[in-house]
Amino acid sequence: MRSTISVIKADVGGLAGHHMVPEQLLEVARNSLADGKKSGIIEDFHVTAVGDDLQLIMSHTKGENNEEVHSLAWNTLKKAADVAEKLGLYGAGQDLLKDTFSGNVKGMGPGVAEIEMEERPSEPIVVFMADKTSPGAFNLPLFRVFADPFNTAGLVIDPSMHSGFTFEIMDVYENRIVKLNAPEELYDILALVGSIGRYIIRRVYRRSDEETAAAVSTTKLNLIAGKYVGKDDPVAIVRAQHGFPALGEILEPFSFPHLVPGWMRGSHYGPLMPVSVGDARPSRFDGPPRICALGFILHEARLIGPSDLFSDPAFDETRRKANIIADYMRRHGPFMPHRVESQEMEYTTLPSVLEKLKERFEELEE
Ligand code: F6R
Ligand code: MG
Ligand code: MG
Repeated sequence: MRSTISVIKADVGGLAGHHMVPEQLLEVARNSLADGKKSGIIEDFHVTAVGDDLQLIMSHTKGENNEEVHSLAWNTLKKAADVAEKLGLYGAGQDLLKDTFSGNVKGMGPGVAEIEMEERPSEPIVVFMADKTSPGAFNLPLFRVFADPFNTAGLVIDPSMHSGFTFEIMDVYENRIVKLNAPEELYDILALVGSIGRYIIRRVYRRSDEETAAAVSTTKLNLIAGKYVGKDDPVAIVRAQHGFPALGEILEPFSFPHLVPGWMRGSHYGPLMPVSVGDARPSRFDGPPRICALGFILHEARLIGPSDLFSDPAFDETRRKANIIADYMRRHGPFMPHRVESQEMEYTTLPSVLEKLKERFEELEE
């Protein structure tokens, strides 16, 4: 049967700052999605939070970009935002940028990742959710999962994966996409996706049958709103096993806490720390950036699970290393490369400082 998994998320208000989503909001979201399930819009759901982002994980049979499903998600986030407002939570409704719903939540603020698929007899799925970073954070790990044979043994030894994967890469500044094939075009892929602020891996397809293997949310809130209104903390969905990378091959790249932009005021590079959902409450300098992974089985459009995949001592050393890297990066204070490039900064006083100093700059004669 054809099933769809939709992950729609937004920061609709946090407790004690841009820190965590309190139980009251999770409860509103659960009740709202339970109504949606009762009325047959969705078949199943799981509500969770990573940092200050409320995450709606939904399964259904209505396909991607479905108006009813998106409307249910939008109304659910709205209800949670109303409660956030009543409780005086910080940044209530901050990611909900439009007042009226018009068919699709894309471009309205929330992050969206969806995959419609022909369900296999067993359909293992990983849902990744990050806080205090942006969609480019997935470039390095997804490249490694789907193109690096030193990470993914299956690329070498599983006949069903041996022909490789196609990367759909989005240029977020020009709003265009390009599809490139691994392994032949590896160097072209890397030439683009190494620029994590501009070229974002948006989808990955298996080349043998063009089945979708992965989808990433590519909403850039700063570009939507014309000005920066919040970090576009990304989500991603990856299918696992039997012709796709094994669960452990999908998680393996996250054992390296690579540097991603985000963290304090969306303006600092820091290590991406894999944590359990319970530990996704960034506090040190509003970070460091976190990534959570929930494992599900999608069966007859129902969600079985989840398993909290980074809740594993095998990632303890990664977390320790991330803390060491966080210390090292913090020692740079306001200096690059801890601070991001000027055009990527969520906040910047640079234009006003330059304006103020305009008259005091002198031409150099030599
Ligand atoms: C980063 C983030 C936080 C805030 C910071 C200042 O994505 O959400 O680091 O940028 O806490 O927040 P405001 O300006 O709301 O006081
Ligand atoms: Mg926030
Ligand atoms: Mg957030």
